[in-house]
Amino acid sequence: MEEARPVRPEELDQTLALVNRVFRTGVDQDMSTDYPLVFASANLNNLRVVSEGGRIFSHAAMAHRELREHGCALPVSMICAVATDPERRRRGAASRIMEDATQAMAARGDAFGLLWTGPARDFYRRLGWEVVGSNGWTYLVEPQQAGRFEQPLPVRPFQAETDLERIIEIHEAQPRQLTRTQAEYRTLLTLPNSEVWMAEETGQAEGYLVVARAYNKSGVVEWGGTSRALSSLLARVLAEPAGERMQVFVPLPDNPMTELLTGRGCHTRIPMEVADGCGLKMVRILSLANLMRQLSPHLEKCLTGCSGQVSLWVRETGERVDLRWDGDNLEVGGGRSRDPQNGAQELSLRQAARLVFGPEKPSQVLDLSNESGQGLDRAFPFGFHIGMLDYV
Ligand SMILES: CC(C)(COP(=O)(O)OP(=O)(O)OC[C@H]1O[C@@H](n2cnc3c(N)ncnc32)[C@H](O)[C@@H]1OP(=O)(O)O)[C@@H](O)C(=O)NCCC(=O)NCCS
Repeated sequence: MEEARPVRPEELDQTLALVNRVFRTGVDQDMSTDYPLVFASANLNNLRVVSEGGRIFSHAAMAHRELREHGCALPVSMICAVATDPERRRRGAASRIMEDATQAMAARGDAFGLLWTGPARDFYRRLGWEVVGSNGWTYLVEPQQAGRFEQPLPVRPFQAETDLERIIEIHEAQPRQLTRTQAEYRTLLTLPNSEVWMAEETGQAEGYLVVARAYNKSGVVEWGGTSRALSSLLARVLAEPAGERMQVFVPLPDNPMTELLTGRGCHTRIPMEVADGCGLKMVRILSLANLMRQLSPHLEKCLTGCSGQVSLWVRETGERVDLRWDGDNLEVGGGRSRDPQNGAQELSLRQAARLVFGPEKPSQVLDLSNESGQGLDRAFPFGFHIGMLDYV
């Protein structure tokens, strides 16, 4: 078996055949069009494979993005399409690729790695990944509830040439997001088995909504705009096809869609992780010190006016992180050592993921002194939402 490496352009077809065999057998969809940004030629360097005798038999992809959340701009990589040929499993190929991807993510300074999985949670846990706090809610709306939504605005299909700029404007006015280029917006808004609807008044679009009916994405996977617009759009898409229950994805904190749904008596909801097409959200810490530095804008906001300090030592990597805060001042220091010197708290990579991303408070993950514990409990868990349209 060869070492893990980036795929070569001439191997792309063979790689797609493998991931389609593993993820799309019996499904009338194709991974290259379901995840066009992942399998784009510009992303080939992020597709990692293992081959033997010229035959590719294991693969994982990275999709690199910037996450804007709580005033921080975090470079992250989402991992997708991790697959080994069924006849060559349990020989360490996927683990080798995941280690290679982890090194690549760390080398480019990503804040963390991110993925969603159903069946393979324990495979990833062995590699330092951990399930973290929830990504959002999924409301389950019945077609007979369509009548609860007024339709004050006319609704029409999206036209890329004229509507793209306005959608970008509406989406980017929302407080949290994964950044996209204009070309990426265009690609995501024209995915197969999905429709985009616009609600407008006197020529100005007030809102939009993306509804997908695909194997990997199902329901209202993105929306934006005023409450009037969202109501009109929901009334339109719930009305057909008759008889179908619709998943509507929303972030955890307050937002206009949740307000609208609950205000109309739609209360049935499940954690996003258990909705169709999702999966458990898992994070891999790459460098805890780097992550803490990237989270500084958030930490400074949460820790202002108090003082404390905590030293952490990550068992698997020997990385030491010293956090000290006092008044307006936050310092992140650290280095490497063979053991947890000077009273640093020892933790595993998986505990580090939970310390930062929850779901519980840091003082439930680690035994922290009162003062430091209170400080960290104020800053974490750091919740973040990735919209369903951006899922890879
Ligand atoms: C998950 C998968 C990629 C692992 O590939 P692989 O090349 O066999 O992985 P490795 O040989 O590196 O590691 C296998 C180890 O992980 C464990 N493992 C593999 N799949 C697992 C799973 N679904 N749940 C828990 N553990 C799993 C195996 O038990 C094995 O450990 P062991 O040999 O000590 O028993 C492969 O099983 C696969 O393609 N599955 C179907 C697609 C899939 O579910 N992908 C993940 C989507 S998020």
